[in-house]
Amino acid sequence: MADKKFEKNLLCIGAGYVGGPTMAMIAHKCPQYKVTVVDVVKEKIDAWKTDDLPIYEPGLLELVKSAREKNLFFSTDIDKGIKESDIIFISVNTPTKTFGEGAGKSADLQYWEKTARDILRASESDKIIVERSTLPVKTAIAMERILSLNDKGLNFEVVSNPEFLAEGTAIKDLENPDRVLIGSKETESGIKARNEIVEIYANWIHREHLITSNLMSSELSKLVANSFLAQRISSINSISALCEKVDADVEEVANAIGKDTRIGDKFLNASIGFGGSCFKKDILNLVYLCETFGLYEVADYWESVVKINEYQNSRFVNIMNKAMFNTIANKRIALFGFAFKANTSDTRETAALYVTQKLMKERAKVVISDPKALKNAKKDLQSYGSDIEYEEDPYKAAKDSHAIAVMTEWDVYKNLDYEKIYSEMEKPAFIFDGRNILDHQNLFKIGFEVYPIGKTPLAHFKEA
Ligand SMILES: NC(=O)c1ccc[n+]([C@@H]2O[C@H](COP(=O)([O-])OP(=O)(O)OC[C@H]3O[C@@H](n4cnc5c(N)ncnc54)[C@H](O)[C@@H]3O)[C@@H](O)[C@H]2O)c1
Repeated sequence: MADKKFEKNLLCIGAGYVGGPTMAMIAHKCPQYKVTVVDVVKEKIDAWKTDDLPIYEPGLLELVKSAREKNLFFSTDIDKGIKESDIIFISVNTPTKTFGEGAGKSADLQYWEKTARDILRASESDKIIVERSTLPVKTAIAMERILSLNDKGLNFEVVSNPEFLAEGTAIKDLENPDRVLIGSKETESGIKARNEIVEIYANWIHREHLITSNLMSSELSKLVANSFLAQRISSINSISALCEKVDADVEEVANAIGKDTRIGDKFLNASIGFGGSCFKKDILNLVYLCETFGLYEVADYWESVVKINEYQNSRFVNIMNKAMFNTIANKRIALFGFAFKANTSDTRETAALYVTQKLMKERAKVVISDPKALKNAKKDLQSYGSDIEYEEDPYKAAKDSHAIAVMTEWDVYKNLDYEKIYSEMEKPAFIFDGRNILDHQNLFKIGFEVYPIGKTPLAHFKEA
C-alpha cells in the first residue's frame, strides 16, 4: 500500500489542534513515512498549505515547513487518503452533545461515526485505525464493530492512542512527551497493531516513555488525566476564595503546599478558571460514564470540579462589579487576553467569553485585546456586532478605560508601561488580575486599584 518512495503511508483525519501538530511532528521525525492530513473544511486545509496556519502554536510553522511537500501533505480528498493509507489516525472533534440523550454531558460522536463510515466505504486494504480523539470508554470496540461490517473481507484493528499535548506547548509536548499511551485488545492481532504504533513513536521517543495497556484503560486514562488536572485548578481556585476572606495569599499557600513532593508544585496557579475545549467536556464525559453505571456519588464528586470553575468565573465578575461601586454600565473595560491560555489562538470555553457576556449584560463597554486570538474572539462574539471593540494594541485598548481585566497570562502583559497606561485611564483606575501575573505592589504605587485572585486587594478606595 505504501508509496514506493516511503515505508508506510500514514493518514490523519481531522486537521485541528491535535491532528495538525501531531502529524507535523511525525513527518518531521520520520522522513521514511508519507504523512497526509485530511479535513472536511477546505479553508483549513488551504491554510495549512500557507504560512498563515489555521492555528497558532509556538514553533508549529517551522515544524510544518520542515516537512511540507516532502513527506507531509494536506488534502480534502478523504477517500483517496483512506485508500492509500496503511495506518489512519483519527483526530476529529468530539464536543459535548447538545441534544437528545446525554445532552450537556456525553460526547457527541457524530463526526467520529462519520469517519468510521468513510473508512468502511473507501478502504480497499487492511488498516490500523488509531484513536487520537478523546472518546468515551469502549468507543474503539464500537468502531471495530462498525468496520467489521465490511463485505470486502478486510481486517481493521483499532488501537487507542490518546493525545496528552497541551495547547501553547504542543510542539514541546509532542517532541518530548512524559508518556505516549497505546492501548489495544490483548489478542495477537491487537498486540501486533499496537507494536506498529510503538515503532512509529520509537523513532524519537525513548522506549520507557512508550507505555501500553488494554483498550479501555487507555481510553479511560485520557478522561481521568484531564479530570485530575482540572481538579487541581478547581482545588486551588476554591482556596483562593477563602484566602480573600482571611487575608491569606493564595500564591504563598500554593508555594507552601507545592513543596510537599506528594502534592507537587505544578498546576497550582489560582486564576479566573480553566478553559479550553477539553477539560470541561472530558470531566462531563467521565460524569456521564459514572452515571451510566449508577455511580452517582462518584459522578457528583467529579461534577463539582466543573461547578467550582463556573463559580470562579462568576466570582470574578462580581468582584469587578462590587469594586467599581456596584455599577459598570457605560464604563469602558479593557480585557487583556481572550485566548483560554497563553501561546494559543484557541478561545474554546475561554473564561474571557463568560466574563465578556456578563459584562455586556451589565452594559459595560467592552474592548478586547489579544496578540493571537482576536479573529476567534470576533467569531465567538459576532452576535454583539459593533457593540464590542477589538484592539490588538493593549495601550490603545486601555486608553480611556475605567478598568483592565487580565484574562490570559500572555507574557506581553507583564512588561507593559503601566505608568503610561495609568496616565491615560479614567480614575480611579482598576486592574483585576485574573491570572496573578502582574507586579501588584508596583501597580498600587502607580495609583491603580489592584484586585488579584486569592489575595487582599490593594485599594486606595476601600469598598463600603
Ligand atoms: N485541543 C487539545 O488540546 C486536545 C488535546 C488532546 C486531545 N484532544 C482531543 O482531540 C480531538 C480533536 O481535538 P482538536 O482540538 O484537534 O479539535 P479541532 O476542532 O481543532 O479539530 C478537529 C478537526 O476535525 C475535522 N473533522 C470533523 N469531522 C470530520 C470528518 N468526518 N472528516 C474529516 N475531518 C473532520 C474538523 O473540521 C476539524 O478541523 C478531540 O477529541 C479532543 O478532545 C484535544
